[in-house]
Amino acid sequence: MTRTKLFRRLLSVASAGVLAVGLAACSGGGDDAGGDDGVTTIGFVAVGPEGAWRQANEANMQETFTKEAGFELKYAPATNLDQKSQIDAFTSFVDEGVDVILLSATEGSGWEDSLKRAQEAEIPVILIDRGIEPDATDLYATRIAPDNLKVSSSVASWAVETFPQGANYFVLEGPAGVSVVNERNRGWNDTIGAKPEFKKLGAQTANWSTEEAKSVFETVLKSNNNKVQLVFAQNDEMGLGAVLAAEEAGLVPGKDVKIATIDGTRNALQALADGKLSFVAEYNPLFGETALDVVNKVLKGEKVESYIVVPSLTFNSPEAATKVLPERKF
Ligand code: AHR
Repeated sequence: MTRTKLFRRLLSVASAGVLAVGLAACSGGGDDAGGDDGVTTIGFVAVGPEGAWRQANEANMQETFTKEAGFELKYAPATNLDQKSQIDAFTSFVDEGVDVILLSATEGSGWEDSLKRAQEAEIPVILIDRGIEPDATDLYATRIAPDNLKVSSSVASWAVETFPQGANYFVLEGPAGVSVVNERNRGWNDTIGAKPEFKKLGAQTANWSTEEAKSVFETVLKSNNNKVQLVFAQNDEMGLGAVLAAEEAGLVPGKDVKIATIDGTRNALQALADGKLSFVAEYNPLFGETALDVVNKVLKGEKVESYIVVPSLTFNSPEAATKVLPERKF
């Protein structure tokens, strides 16, 4: 533990009215993984309840960074997805002098000051899933996530193969300002945008929600006389909402309209097995072991890649989904 961090930790302990121990302990200098008790304290600035993907990702993090593994993980979910609550939690972790901060940002922008504070306090920050915008790679140790550009371009490539004559399509987006939404739009547009036979009817956020996506797509179908052949839903919950809207409009999802989604959660794979979804690109949430390995490397001062890509699969048929469902972990 560095002198700065121990001083901050003692200050926060002292401010709690507990007798502070002498600073002599820090005279040894040099970094070591974790505190004096050998426990590495992790401040996890998390998103909190948002859907099946988030639940799987955050549970996996908490199941990985256990006391038995030598960690104390302090979980700080956002209040109603509010960035200010995340910035407040981030600041508290810096003041407390945790060893590492994991950040899953509810908003892509607005993190520069917080990241600089952590840097001054010599606390490494690891981005989990979500990136920051603008991407200041000097302000964080690394980002661990599947590659959103590759994941969304795999959906676009499937669409091009499935609709050789092109299609009228609609995009159900995640919330504005979230980094992965911008990346998924870019990955999709880089492939589909070059295909004039694909006509974009529009795009609208449904905030990762099944209910909101159902409502949005009901309106889209009405205003296009049901003539929508393809939906790119940027997560599973929204794709399942589009399925409900299509069925209520008297359409057969998978036949009259093909709906493709991102995440690969169990409900989406079941819908793919049932023929209601047509393509599911996994965005693998289970990377806790990778994160633990990276935390240990970073604390030892080892160099890590600025973006550590989590491998993810694609599922393009009912048979492919049926095959993996029995063992599906999320
Ligand atoms: O950042 C990952 C996205 O956030 C997932 O695709 C979505 O389901 C979650 O809410």
